[in-house]
Amino acid sequence: MQLNENKYFRDILEKEKKSEFVIANELQNLDRHRTFTFSFEDISLDITRQLISSEQFLKLKMLGEAIDIKDKKKKLFEGSFLNVTENRLVTHFLERNSNSIVDKINRYKSFISLLKQKKIKNLINIGIGGSDLGIKMVYHALKQNSNGPSLINVSNLDFTNLENTLKMRDIKETFFIFNSKSFSTEETLVNLNFVKNLLNNEGLDLNDHMVAVTSFPEKALEAGLKEHAIFHVPNGVGGRFSMWSHFGLGLVASLGTDVYEQLLAGAYKMDKHFLEEKLELNLPYILGITRIWNRNVLNLQNLAIVPYENGLKFFPTWFQQVEMESNGKSIDALGNELELPAAPLVFGEIGTESQHSFFQLLHQGIEKIPVEFLVPFEGKNVVSKNKKDLEPHSRLVVNAIAQAEALITGKKTHKEKYRNMTGNRPSTFITWDKTNAESLGKLVSLYENATIVCGLLWGINSFDQWGVELGKEISRNIYTGQNLEDLSYSARKILKGII
Ligand code: F6P
Repeated sequence: MQLNENKYFRDILEKEKKSEFVIANELQNLDRHRTFTFSFEDISLDITRQLISSEQFLKLKMLGEAIDIKDKKKKLFEGSFLNVTENRLVTHFLERNSNSIVDKINRYKSFISLLKQKKIKNLINIGIGGSDLGIKMVYHALKQNSNGPSLINVSNLDFTNLENTLKMRDIKETFFIFNSKSFSTEETLVNLNFVKNLLNNEGLDLNDHMVAVTSFPEKALEAGLKEHAIFHVPNGVGGRFSMWSHFGLGLVASLGTDVYEQLLAGAYKMDKHFLEEKLELNLPYILGITRIWNRNVLNLQNLAIVPYENGLKFFPTWFQQVEMESNGKSIDALGNELELPAAPLVFGEIGTESQHSFFQLLHQGIEKIPVEFLVPFEGKNVVSKNKKDLEPHSRLVVNAIAQAEALITGKKTHKEKYRNMTGNRPSTFITWDKTNAESLGKLVSLYENATIVCGLLWGINSFDQWGVELGKEISRNIYTGQNLEDLSYSARKILKGII
């Protein structure tokens, strides 16, 4: 069922939309605060600054009932939800289910011992998209506690990416993890050949310095890897949801099995909350329907993600793929054209850096852009007695609050119009106590599941990504000289110079 067919959504459009809701007068109202804040363990979700009234919110919360979301959540959790266009089950939830990770952890322990024996200092994860972004994001967030080899991510087809990474490193102390679900991704295979040649030239054995993680082990065998150097991931684990599977090998090897288990445990806790908590108190559901409100009721086309912690630098980049590859679609799961638009354009950067780049547009641009502020407290006093001596993390928290307040309250008292801000610009404020493996696991599951909630409400299949195929096909054709006559004049002119 598409969103426009959902009787509660129709009800909202017909009876509730009216004119834009102005919340300025309600911001100090304790009832509003109670109605619009939610929490699960240390994670809090505050949507008091969204442009929605309590009456409208009551209706919005009903959306999931019309699509029997409870049954869909159950299927996802059990690994029996069907990805229709690829005809396979969606199984990434099983990868973080604490009942099923014992065998994996034992294999990881042996792998870590092997790296120690070999005195490996550098681990290079070669993969792209879902085989790169989540791992890079988590490693950057948690690396300060790492005792293992440092993890470096290489993704680009551009050789300088790998060359520069290897320049200052001793290849004998370096180990490569090739992450490719399909084992047919151009970028990863080109980098694989580069590394094979390099090892060969140094007289080193491929299988002493490399493992592959894939759903197609036969292709890794063909590429020269031995069976013991291959980690097999079930096909139901989608690329952008894969850091929980063996694709997280670089994380385990660098951060240790304890940290990785805490990450999985955090995600599993949030999954259980998503599965079991009633919809009106369910964090992934509430976050998802908030985005639906902005995208489909208020028609806001963008979404900014702004974490206030340096370690979360890659969170927006990771989430871009999760949301836009999952929900950037115009056909529903039954093959019909969507009547209403789906995924927003997602962008973001850490605060406070982003305050000095794109926040100008957020405050004074013509179109409103909802912002999701992600703010850990790090166990610090936010406002100390001596305000001048605020320690740096508290300053981050203060800045995040100040931006959210400025967006919603605005200021219209200047006589020069260019200094005024309209205000009434929506944001969501997500906080937690301290970024560690468990809280990050919860946060990642919260975001993944909110994306899935939106996909279910839009009626689309959030687990395929056919839109990325045509570009790949055209470049393959160019390499092999096929159908060149179908290319535009402009394309042929450029290619003449390089092929
Ligand atoms: O091109 C998109 C994509 O298929 C993503 O979905 C995936 O995460 C990425 O490429 C990498 O794919 P693979 O892991 O198969 O190399």
